[in-house]
Amino acid sequence: MRALVIIATAALAIGCSKPNEAGEKTPEAADKKATAPTPKAAEPPPASATVPAATKSMFAALPAGEVANPKNPVTEEKIALGRMLYYDTRFSKNHDLSCNSCHDLARWGVDAEATSPGHKKQRGDRNSPTVYNAAGHIAQFWDGREPDVEAQAKGPVLNPVEMAMPDEGRVLETIKSMPEYVAAFQKAFPDDAEPVTYDNFGKAIGAFERRLLTPGRFDAFLKGDDDALTDAEKKGLNLFVSTGCTTCHTGAYLGGHMYQKAGLVKPWPNEKDIGRAKVTGNDAEKFFFKVPSLRNIAKTGPYFHDGSVASLPEAVKMMAEYQLGKQLGDEDTQAIVTFLEALTGELPTDYIAKPELPASTDQTPKPDPN
Ligand code: HEC
Ligand code: HEC
Repeated sequence: MRALVIIATAALAIGCSKPNEAGEKTPEAADKKATAPTPKAAEPPPASATVPAATKSMFAALPAGEVANPKNPVTEEKIALGRMLYYDTRFSKNHDLSCNSCHDLARWGVDAEATSPGHKKQRGDRNSPTVYNAAGHIAQFWDGREPDVEAQAKGPVLNPVEMAMPDEGRVLETIKSMPEYVAAFQKAFPDDAEPVTYDNFGKAIGAFERRLLTPGRFDAFLKGDDDALTDAEKKGLNLFVSTGCTTCHTGAYLGGHMYQKAGLVKPWPNEKDIGRAKVTGNDAEKFFFKVPSLRNIAKTGPYFHDGSVASLPEAVKMMAEYQLGKQLGDEDTQAIVTFLEALTGELPTDYIAKPELPASTDQTPKPDPN
């Protein structure tokens, strides 16, 4: 009932700008098919390359420009600083890791590892998700334990298996040892009496991440360019919907907007990580994870919170089986994968170019391999 109302409202909104093109069914038409004997009014079968308006309305184009945060307005100065901090290995204990080591911006924001080597090559338990389009999710991390990218950015630097800085003090000492950084903080936070703070370190990186968006053909399609997707991709999209993937993967990010159980209808093979239950202390949320975004999914494997699956077709089959209780054949799997490949957007090449970093001084703390 609720779903119907949502679909009806959304379809109405689309109907305003784009009145019922050939092949698109209004909800009224869809309702009539139950009673009216006209076979022509039937829903297009999943194998059709006609994408109904109600399907399009389940998704949305990526935001233009940036994912805004009123508490951290994006400015060019903050972005310029955040970009430097993102690439600077001197915010890791041994000066060998930056955010970009595990979230390589030239490689779709990931490192292509199941789990990432951090300080002294230690590995955490979870796969590195992409930083592209992450700012728009309901929360950060697989378990949503940080509210936004600003708060998230303060974590890895002090995490002993990631960048392993001993404390915030060492981070601030590192910044203050380089006059160019101090000047950049002053420019980015002109109203602050003391601009060099750990909070502002997070805010600058967060501001930079808020423009890491990758719009592509799917966005053009949703905005009305029907030729932006091939027939095979449209068929795959219809199958993605009719299989039930859109129970969880919807919206601008095809995910990123709710928590769901990994293994909803059949226990997930790896139950070591209880996911969200560890954050909320609520047993009912055992094995719940943030539903990941499927933007650029063909580029961001290996898959799942533990990086346990390398192949996208395999990941799709597992989703059908464990989340929906369905066995997908090879042909249907491939059709869905073909659609998922159309979710690959464009990398903002100029925006992500590595900037020149301030030179170290005698005061800059030295690398520490221990
Ligand atoms: C050693 C590898 C490593 C480094 C270095 C690292 N990260 Fe991560 N990052 C991860 C892993 C692993 C996760 C997932 C952890 C989890 O969910 O518990 C993650 C999660 C994230 C997320 C959440 C994305 C989402 O979809 O929820 C963001 C954003 C992010 N990192 C940004 C950064 C930034 C900014 C830096 C630098 C300050 C950084 N990371 C440094 C490995 C790393
Ligand atoms: C009931 C909710 C639900 C349904 C239905 C669902 N998914 Fe998922 N999906 C999730 C969750 C939760 C995860 C994260 C699981 C994990 O990492 O352990 C996920 C992960 C994925 C991943 C891996 C993402 C990554 O970054 O590693 C892909 C690909 C995927 N889903 C595709 C699909 C497809 C295709 C369908 C339909 C056949 C589908 N999903 C149906 C909830 C769902």
